[in-house]
Amino acid sequence: MTRKFFVGGNWKMNGDIPSIDGIVAFLNQSGANDAVDIVVAPPAPYLSYVKSQVKNNIKVAAQNCYKVPKGAFTGEISPAMIKDLGLEWVVLGHSERRHVFGESDELIADKTIHALESGISVIFCIGEKLEEREAGHTKDVNFRQLQAILDKKVDFTNIVIAYEPVWAIGTGKTASPEQAQEVHEWIRQFLREKVSSEVADKTRIIYGGSVTADNAAELAKKNDIDGFLVGGASLKPDFVKIINARS
Ligand code: G3H
Repeated sequence: MTRKFFVGGNWKMNGDIPSIDGIVAFLNQSGANDAVDIVVAPPAPYLSYVKSQVKNNIKVAAQNCYKVPKGAFTGEISPAMIKDLGLEWVVLGHSERRHVFGESDELIADKTIHALESGISVIFCIGEKLEEREAGHTKDVNFRQLQAILDKKVDFTNIVIAYEPVWAIGTGKTASPEQAQEVHEWIRQFLREKVSSEVADKTRIIYGGSVTADNAAELAKKNDIDGFLVGGASLKPDFVKIINARS
């Protein structure tokens, strides 16, 4: 089964208009690569601006959204608002949302279901912390985070799963291709057992955590690695090399 390569750039809380113009310039000059889905996630205040500046083949994602359409939730944005801007994607469950802002599996699952029901596709992030890996709990943690959306009868059609081991995020310590492949294979097997073979075969499972232009090509060779979610390196021209890592 061929799954279309998917590369996301998560800008996190970085950027201002001049630096965003620089990022947009290298993205737009990169040329269309129809073999890759490209999605960039700027901070919320810049979503419309980035959408208006990037070429049509580059999609724009919000980095977060809440679990209801509107109301008294100061500081939050809703999937309805993301859709209103003409956008199609949101990142949910990122480790910084889980571990810096204390979002629970259940809240993330509620947000995911609401985003999907609102017509927004989801980059659904999971991943274990270093102490969890060292204690031998990698599989349990990733399965538990996935189970939270299964419990709510999620439809996987518009989900990309991002496996991001927390110990690899922003640390320069990338998972080896073998380490990443092992967990991706577990996740695909989990989908096969708990959902269906069709969903297991079709769902893209991308890797995130210190991906660079230097390590992307080796990771991209692995059978169950269908792309990347890139943080720091998505702010630099080298991001284009990551987009083309499988070419
Ligand atoms: O969402 C992206 C990940 O957190 C990876 O970030 O590439 O800076 O390690 P990083």
